[in-house]
Amino acid sequence: MILSASIIASDAARLGAQAREALDAGVDWLHIDVMDGRFVPNITVGPFVVNALRPLADETGAKLDVHLMIEEPRRYVDDFIAAGADLVTVHVETCTRLHRVLAHIRSRGAMAGVTLNPGTPLSAIAEALSGVDMALVMSVDPGFSGQKYIPESTDKIRRLRDMLDRTAPRAWLQVDGGVYAGNVREVVQAGATVVVAGNAVFGGASIADNVQALRKAAAPEA
Ligand code: DX5
Ligand code: ZN
Repeated sequence: MILSASIIASDAARLGAQAREALDAGVDWLHIDVMDGRFVPNITVGPFVVNALRPLADETGAKLDVHLMIEEPRRYVDDFIAAGADLVTVHVETCTRLHRVLAHIRSRGAMAGVTLNPGTPLSAIAEALSGVDMALVMSVDPGFSGQKYIPESTDKIRRLRDMLDRTAPRAWLQVDGGVYAGNVREVVQAGATVVVAGNAVFGGASIADNVQALRKAAAPEA
């Protein structure tokens, strides 16, 4: 299981230290949630944060996993890739020409991801899966960290897994929102290969203990 720590849940006043602590504790990627206050009712960060984390990613081999929850993401794809994004994921709900945006992300040297809100059916992305490096199932309504996992997401993960096995077997299946030690095994067994965790990594007293608990809970029956 690839673990991608959602930095929105970290102590933003110590972002660099928190990111390093998470990577030292065994997190694989850093998940950067970009929100514009229009597609979702929250505003977060821009390319400068990707740029600030790039040296740490180079030093540790971590991937910068950028999740664009913004209208018309095509406007900012180049800026996020120039800032150092390894993956750029866009919402199907924000792209009238999804294939073109995904192809453009790849043409700029990054890996392309597509995602969809809990209320959006998988049929909305079915025709785009052959052109992605990752498909992301939102298991909460996007906008905030610390929300509860939507239980129906598990069946959606299973159905997306089947679709990917047929059309894009090499693509990652990422799940994002409300994942913690109590449900990570269910998420992985349903077919997730990348798990995003914000509160479950940065919440509470110890990042190292959190990461260990997630990994232990995700491991197949010993
Ligand atoms: C929600 C974001 C998620 C969220 C994950 O809009 O896309 O990445 O921050 O945080 P947790 O794991 O706390 O739900
Ligand atoms: Zn996210």
